[in-house]
Amino acid sequence: MYDLIVHNAHVYPDFRTGTPAPAASMAITGGRVSELGVAADAPARERLDADGAIVLPGFVDCHTHLCFAGNRMDEHAARLAGASYADIAAKGGGIRATVRAVDQATEQQLVDQSLPRLQALMREGATTVEIKSGYGLSVANELKQLRAIRRLGETGGVRVTPTFLALHALPEGVPAEKYVRQVIEETLPAVARESLADSVDVFCEHIAFGVADMLAVFERARELGLACRAHTDQLSNLGGTRAAAEFGVLSCDHLEYIRTEDIAAMAANGTVAVLLPGAYYCLRESQQPPVSELREAGVPMALATDLNPGTSPVASPLAILHLASTLFGLHADEAVAGLTRHGAHALGRDDLGTLNPGARADFTIWDVAGPEFFTYQLGGIRPRNVYFEGTPA
Ligand code: NIG
Ligand code: FE
Repeated sequence: MYDLIVHNAHVYPDFRTGTPAPAASMAITGGRVSELGVAADAPARERLDADGAIVLPGFVDCHTHLCFAGNRMDEHAARLAGASYADIAAKGGGIRATVRAVDQATEQQLVDQSLPRLQALMREGATTVEIKSGYGLSVANELKQLRAIRRLGETGGVRVTPTFLALHALPEGVPAEKYVRQVIEETLPAVARESLADSVDVFCEHIAFGVADMLAVFERARELGLACRAHTDQLSNLGGTRAAAEFGVLSCDHLEYIRTEDIAAMAANGTVAVLLPGAYYCLRESQQPPVSELREAGVPMALATDLNPGTSPVASPLAILHLASTLFGLHADEAVAGLTRHGAHALGRDDLGTLNPGARADFTIWDVAGPEFFTYQLGGIRPRNVYFEGTPA
């Protein structure tokens, strides 16, 4: 006896190699997919007639910074007037502006201000959302942010995977060496003790932290049993992608400035490339990540919103599918794979991002003509239903 059978559907179980043939039905038991293509009248507690609609794995948004306070609308205006992201950061704005707002906010205020953003992603079919800290920059404030992230994950209907963004920016007036030491000796062990994160991230960039600091943090994270990932080569090439891939991170994210040798290192180490077209678009960047080279090298390409108050105030996974196609040239099946199977892959999860038997039954039902519609139309699309572990989200 199945818990649920979805029938009269076009179920796309897995965007692995081109657009796969859809199945007409899917059976679910115990919150997981148990079988595809079952008879519509097989014994089941519940039955859902999809009316010929398409069924996709729930979106996995594998890179967000959606837990923050305030906003940075003023930076948008400054950018229109010609300031760059680096100019704004050098004047004490950028990440540090949000750090000041997070310092002023209580844990409850962080939850209250961030929940609508999480709900916006859920409304468009996200069933797993990674959320990073990184706006605390002190032991107490990073823990406050991670506790707020944990509470966001307890609201239901969505799985939140927490990441400790250990090196994001330097707190005002603190030397880099002292700060990195504090992260390694105090913050990381405290995060691990409270099990507040699954993985650790570093912003490796000329305006942030260098390769040696990144690797020192990764070594400690690995000792503590945490997975690693990195923001690399977003604004310049420091060799961060290659070093992180060789270290064995799950993913390298952004990648506008990667070179051929970085791609080879990613391919050799099975690193996922997380492309963030929202940040590229909002920063009006012109250097594109080398999608055709990544494709040729067989590097899996994930997509994410990068939802954050500065570089990507984009609370829309559907907009990301469209931007990935129009700005980066991803094909429709690659784009959907980027927000499903490869997003899951970037989180080190093989139970998410597909509807293969055994996978978590996180799925969405859409009245659209096919997956190509997502890269074709911008706006005006919503899933008819969102299911999380086999029940309505
Ligand atoms: O992914 N690059 C660093 N981190 C974020 C931006 C954070 C911010 O500007 O607040 C990003 O683009
Ligand atoms: Fe980011």
